[in-house]
Amino acid sequence: MRKRILSGMRSTGGCHLGNYVGALENWIRLQDEYDSFHMVADWHELTTDLEHTSKIGKNSVEVVIDWLSAGLDPKKSPLFIQSHVKEHAELHLIFSMLVTVPRLQRNPTVKEQARDLGLDTTMSYGHLGYPVLQAADILIYKANAVPVGEDQAPHVEITREIARRFNGLYGDVFPEPETLLTKFARLPGLDNRKMSKSLNNTIFLADTPDVIKKKVMTSYTDPQKIRKTDPGNPDGCVVFAYHQKFHPEDIGQVDTDCRKGKLGCVDHKKQVAGIISDFFAPIRERRDYYESHRSEVEDIIADGDRRAREVAQSTMADVREAMQMG
Ligand code: TRP
Repeated sequence: MRKRILSGMRSTGGCHLGNYVGALENWIRLQDEYDSFHMVADWHELTTDLEHTSKIGKNSVEVVIDWLSAGLDPKKSPLFIQSHVKEHAELHLIFSMLVTVPRLQRNPTVKEQARDLGLDTTMSYGHLGYPVLQAADILIYKANAVPVGEDQAPHVEITREIARRFNGLYGDVFPEPETLLTKFARLPGLDNRKMSKSLNNTIFLADTPDVIKKKVMTSYTDPQKIRKTDPGNPDGCVVFAYHQKFHPEDIGQVDTDCRKGKLGCVDHKKQVAGIISDFFAPIRERRDYYESHRSEVEDIIADGDRRAREVAQSTMADVREAMQMG
């Protein structure tokens, strides 16, 4: 039997190049090797944004359109929405008894979020426990592996501990899933910080060539290279990083020309804007298709929900039987 993965992404809105490089590209590759389930984590959105809940439904559909456009195949693996499979909430409740509060407070990713969002004393019970909901997301499909970036590894560790605790108390129901770390290093944002929607430094999969060009023209390059003929340093240059990722064939030449002062940043930006536009052209084309065939997208989600629910319900039957709760 093929091993199974569960992958998840929050429904914060459109996917950007960082999501593509850090997650989607990997999921698409893994789709042939693993039995895959792809979930939009809309309930997780509540942990950090309670004020704009009316946007969550629409954003979730946008995320699915991005996934389809990027090349996830809904025939191979269900694409579904977390809140459409209520069993996640039931398993989350049971799991919430199997982990201690100090254990959750030690989670470095949650600590970092508390610091960045100023939530040291105001973090909600649900936010502190979001790795427990994530454990339910993963284990309800008895996933053997979870493809994530490094920041999510602590949550997979908690997932493994919860699986062990449950199995120890009630008998073997859950596998202990492994973390499949994404290989490619993080793609920097336009300003050389982490690419993130909240930092306003992203290129979206849905951006048109014009928008891509405008954005790339603003991006961070070697600050010491002022004139075209100044020798530049491609290490730490955002434009160089994009070139390397999306058109590695001539990267050696670009490196030499930049260092020798033969290639100016403005010319290079124009070139890289073209490279990115070309790379994502097939994705934009598929997006146009799905945007004008919305009912097809709805059917794909309904089918994904149904396939996910079937597995989730069967796992919950195993859970209730193991716990002998009748
Ligand atoms: N917490 C993840 C994030 O912030 C999203 C997520 C929710 C997830 N449930 C998941 C990821 C299950 C992997 C598996 O990106």
